[in-house]
Amino acid sequence: MDKIVVRGGVPLRGEIAVSGSKNAALPLLFASLLTEDECRLGQVPQLVDIRTALRLLHDLGVEYDWLSNSEVALNARAVRQLQAPYELVKTMRASFLVLGPLLARFGRARVSTPGGCAIGARPVNLHLEGLQQLGASIRLQQGYVEAEAKRLRGAHIALEFPSVGATENLMMAATLAEGTTTIENAACEPEVADLATMLNAMGARVSGAGSGTVTIEGVNALQGVAHTVIPDRVEAGTFLIAGAITAGDVFVRGARADHLGAFLHKLQEAGVQLEEHKDGIHVTCEKRPSSVDIVTQPYPGFPTDLQAQMMALLSLSDGRSMITETIFENRFLHAQELVRLGADIHVQGNSAVVSGVAFLSGAPVMATDLRASVSLILAGLAAQGVTEVSRVYHLDRGYEHIEEKLSRLGADIRRVKSEK
Ligand code: EPZ
Repeated sequence: MDKIVVRGGVPLRGEIAVSGSKNAALPLLFASLLTEDECRLGQVPQLVDIRTALRLLHDLGVEYDWLSNSEVALNARAVRQLQAPYELVKTMRASFLVLGPLLARFGRARVSTPGGCAIGARPVNLHLEGLQQLGASIRLQQGYVEAEAKRLRGAHIALEFPSVGATENLMMAATLAEGTTTIENAACEPEVADLATMLNAMGARVSGAGSGTVTIEGVNALQGVAHTVIPDRVEAGTFLIAGAITAGDVFVRGARADHLGAFLHKLQEAGVQLEEHKDGIHVTCEKRPSSVDIVTQPYPGFPTDLQAQMMALLSLSDGRSMITETIFENRFLHAQELVRLGADIHVQGNSAVVSGVAFLSGAPVMATDLRASVSLILAGLAAQGVTEVSRVYHLDRGYEHIEEKLSRLGADIRRVKSEK
């Protein structure tokens, strides 16, 4: 129940480094289940979700070892159980990504369904339908998926929606299937492409990852690998907005423009100055941002994971912006908290009208999910006075030492540990 206290009004200056991507590292860690050889992952961020993933792997029988602050070695030679319990899956729904690898390598698995989430229903039907097409028998029993298949068989799978998780789960499962699998309308996110890169380095035959159609030729076994996780594009985008919303001058080391296209385009449309370099992106914002309209979409469209942060910036624009959220049905929980800081936002269904105000004023606010929590910190960095963000356990799931990183840019920010 820690909280973060921010005194706003300080233009951020200097350099900040991006950590490895949470949403890439999670499936990469679970892909280690596909081989009995050692896998080494570099640039793994120190996050609560990563620790949950390692705990789950450990409970399955995977040995792991931190070789440094950001490199971990894993070995799934001695997997002794094939069950992912509700206690873990409910705390981190990406745990559901163990289903494909366990089923592919061991022929059966029992994995809790993730249940609902603050930002939406988030069902897993596309994962299960795809696995059934690969020949698995799937039963839902007491909140668990019980899956079995002597050996998965290649199939043509057309996803109803380019789900990131379903693409990753099915891609991993198909690597050890008999024959060839095609995933049509696959997710194209950079995290999906990073997973394919590692799988191919393990001896898999995945082609087309990052395009809408992925083809996987099954092989009999996979080998160990050493792989470095891509930088976190959502963290990078968050820091670019931190620089812009404080009228600062910041270099975000490790930010990759080729992963952030649609987002960078919208920032520039809002009048934010960006300079792309091979090792990062430089941001300045001398005048009040302009209003822009945003529609979140699957990659390469505007990322839903940067919608809340963009809303914080646009709440200080010189006009009226319309933000439309098309990925998750309940991802505007931060809007009312931003209104507590003086923003003028009206939510109607999956759209929010953000009328820019001249300034925000600090107040106590409450985080409701990972990206909502950081949007409140961004608004607090720009607000007059002090903002206290409570329930920051959401934040620790996806941002590594954020208050330390921001304070190195001059931010007046600190964490207040709760006694509890
Ligand atoms: C991944 O979630 C990310 N998480 C999310 O980031 C991100 O918001 C999301 O992709 C979209 O980009 C990780 O990578 C760990 P989806 P995922 O399957 O895989 C519906 C963050 O803040 N759907 O692409 O769960 C679903 O309900 C998190 O870091 C089905 O209907 O997302 C949603 O509306 C939040 N049936 C939409 O598709 C399915 O079987 C997108 O979900 C699967 C998904």
